[in-house]
Amino acid sequence: MPGDRVVCLLDQRLLPRAEHYELLSRWEQVAEAIQTLAVRGAPAIGIAAAYGLVLGAGALAEKDAAAFVAGFREIGETLRKTRPTAVNLAWAAQRMETAAAAIAGQPGAARTLALAKEARAIHAEDVAACRRMGQLGADLLPSGVNVLTHCNAGALATGGYGSALGVVRALRSAHKLGRVFATETRPLLQGARLTAWELMRDGVNVTLVADSVAATLMQRGEVSAVVVGADRLARNGDVANKIGTYSLACLAAAHNLPLVVAAPWSTVDLEAATGDAIPIEMRTSDEVTHVRVGDDSVHSAPDGVRTFNPAFDVTPARLVHAIVTERGVVRPSKGETLDSLKP
Ligand code: MRU
Repeated sequence: MPGDRVVCLLDQRLLPRAEHYELLSRWEQVAEAIQTLAVRGAPAIGIAAAYGLVLGAGALAEKDAAAFVAGFREIGETLRKTRPTAVNLAWAAQRMETAAAAIAGQPGAARTLALAKEARAIHAEDVAACRRMGQLGADLLPSGVNVLTHCNAGALATGGYGSALGVVRALRSAHKLGRVFATETRPLLQGARLTAWELMRDGVNVTLVADSVAATLMQRGEVSAVVVGADRLARNGDVANKIGTYSLACLAAAHNLPLVVAAPWSTVDLEAATGDAIPIEMRTSDEVTHVRVGDDSVHSAPDGVRTFNPAFDVTPARLVHAIVTERGVVRPSKGETLDSLKP
């Protein structure tokens, strides 16, 4: 954020065809960027929301303490609604609101600076968490492991380094990584557009497959572990993540393969006892009826067809071999719960 006036975002909608950075000066633009997936991935949208709230604080600079706190909360509420499943967004908004309430009596410019510092701390802590998770996740897996991953849980989806792809990066640094298979991840192709792009830029040996190829790969013995991120983790270890994760979990169980979930503590929702309490974001039918890459969109279904387009699914804890957070590892399939890592 140069001069604390602008949020600079890589527009993920245009990848891999164009590497275009958006400079956003109003919090409403950040909300729109989150809603339209210019920035996506649970930790990344939490970080974007935190920076968006700094812009919001700037817009409220002339307000007295009470009006500032009320206005700041309202902006936080609007940001929370942009994507309801990824709890990192609500977590970051809450943390920024707590910080804002504590400094509400200061002059406007000082408030904005203090909140910019808080947003940067959220960002830096996420990168550190990813590095720690990468290490812990890599320690769980054997040498030569072939990883299958879904969606994009990489540097693009976090403050940097990645959660699931952080594990991949740590495996590579430890010379333990075999191959990586990335599912294309219909309907929005985060695997094809983002994971393949991100890993190829890093020189990682990645093979892109259609979602429907996962079972065949496992049947052929070409996958040794499924490693994914998460959008919200319930207390019992149920995992909300990109639609299709549950299918992969069932396939992994059928082939006796571990499903490892890497996610920072900001993804944990201890108030959700199980996945039943996790709201699942429903998205528009055009994402299913059209194939879109960048600005191009091809209609690939009959006009007027009914669609069902949940953005996420919930994988039951019994299918999850390990959840890796920066605070440590839990084994939900063995009945371990996330509150065991609570400070
Ligand atoms: O709809 P998206 O692209 O925001 O969904 C992203 C995912 O499901 C990721 O797997 C999850 O947010 C973890 S990102 C570290």
